[in-house]
Amino acid sequence: MSYAYKPRKSLVLIGLMGVGKTTVGRRLAHALKLQFRDADEEVEKAAGRSVSEIFEDFGEHAFRDGERKVIARLLEEPPMVLALGGGAFVDGETRDRVKALATSIWLQADVETLVQRVARRDTRPLLRDEDPETVLRTLLNKRQAAYAEADIHVDASGGSHQITLDTILQALESREARA
Ligand code: S3P
Repeated sequence: MSYAYKPRKSLVLIGLMGVGKTTVGRRLAHALKLQFRDADEEVEKAAGRSVSEIFEDFGEHAFRDGERKVIARLLEEPPMVLALGGGAFVDGETRDRVKALATSIWLQADVETLVQRVARRDTRPLLRDEDPETVLRTLLNKRQAAYAEADIHVDASGGSHQITLDTILQALESREARA
């Protein structure tokens, strides 16, 4: 299904690892006939290395620098759907830039759901060495105040990605109607 609604600004998906930013983002882009980009993938392309390799070879700090630059570049492009890595919106500069140039959407889910979802992939350096549930709970505590600054908050816990997508589209339409 596609919608006549055309966002004037990019739509930026934020939230913890495993919440479905990439999957939902692709569907949202398809529904709105926008381009989809994934910030992690763009960092990987720019660095010629995977996220895990960047962490291993240069450390998290270097990854965060690259992430900030890549996101700044993407936000200068015409409206798109952009999925950010889980830590990106915690960076003050990135958060300010997203607030100024885009509409931000926080996908939320309970930690139990996230733990199940992240277990499907082994590509996340922050979850490799410690118990994923403990890491995700700690990150949620540290990050939720920043995430809560997003324009739109969506519950992505329970149902399918389709339900999450429908909720986002409704929220966008009602924002548009109020604008
Ligand atoms: C991170 C999340 C990852 C990736 C990196 C760090 C984080 O992205 O950017 O491993 O700090 O939460 P996803 O949220 O897309 O898994």
